[in-house]
Amino acid sequence: MAIYMNSERLWFRAPMGADAAVLTGFLHDPRVRRNLAIGRYPFSEEGEARWLAEQDHPPAMDGQTDVRFAFGAQGQEQVLGVTGLHRISMLHRNAEWGILIGRPEEWGKGYGREVARAMLAYAFRTLNLHRVWLRVNADHPGGIKAYEAAGFRREGVFRQHIFVDGTWVDQVAMAALATEWK
Ligand SMILES: CC(C)(COP(=O)(O)OP(=O)(O)OC[C@H]1O[C@@H](n2cnc3c(N)ncnc32)[C@H](O)[C@@H]1OP(=O)(O)O)[C@@H](O)C(=O)NCCC(=O)NCCS
Repeated sequence: MAIYMNSERLWFRAPMGADAAVLTGFLHDPRVRRNLAIGRYPFSEEGEARWLAEQDHPPAMDGQTDVRFAFGAQGQEQVLGVTGLHRISMLHRNAEWGILIGRPEEWGKGYGREVARAMLAYAFRTLNLHRVWLRVNADHPGGIKAYEAAGFRREGVFRQHIFVDGTWVDQVAMAALATEWK
């Protein structure tokens, strides 16, 4: 397995076409997709495979706008989840960060904050970004706690910004700045 980087307990590599089945499985769990913007429509393995193929850029070059990783626990090949920096602006040096840990039984073990820390280090030290931001549903305390533990700060609230399972839900804006991050 070609590993791009490691954190304390996790490996990170580029997503591959062979990950399509496992990603499709993750997204069919309503608990996993509940807090994801992409979670409103059904998924097929063929669609996931096409999406992965589209993301399969040549070696990263200046101006690339998205960088995605699959990650898993060291010593195991199984993919635990995916994470990415999206809409990277090399002008403003910011990006939106996203994460998905695909099996609820793996939540609450500190992997979320470990991935967040690794991705902030990658964003600031490797990509020379200045700001990494995200929006998280206000009724997703596990996410908010993990992101704060990794150094993201709350910046404000988008009131009733999204519709989740029949209810309007606020979204919390959070960000980490390179100048505040260690
Ligand atoms: C959001 C997500 C990445 C968090 O990952 P994680 O590995 O569970 O995060 P961590 O273990 O680092 O931290 C979660 C913290 O929230 C706590 N927590 C979880 N559910 C909670 C709840 N309902 N109320 C209060 N705290 C809660 C956990 O106990 C843990 O805190 P602790 O370490 O002090 O005990 C993961 O839940 C996930 O992938 N969910 C599905 C997809 C998703 O929602 N993606 C993010 C969209 S913004």
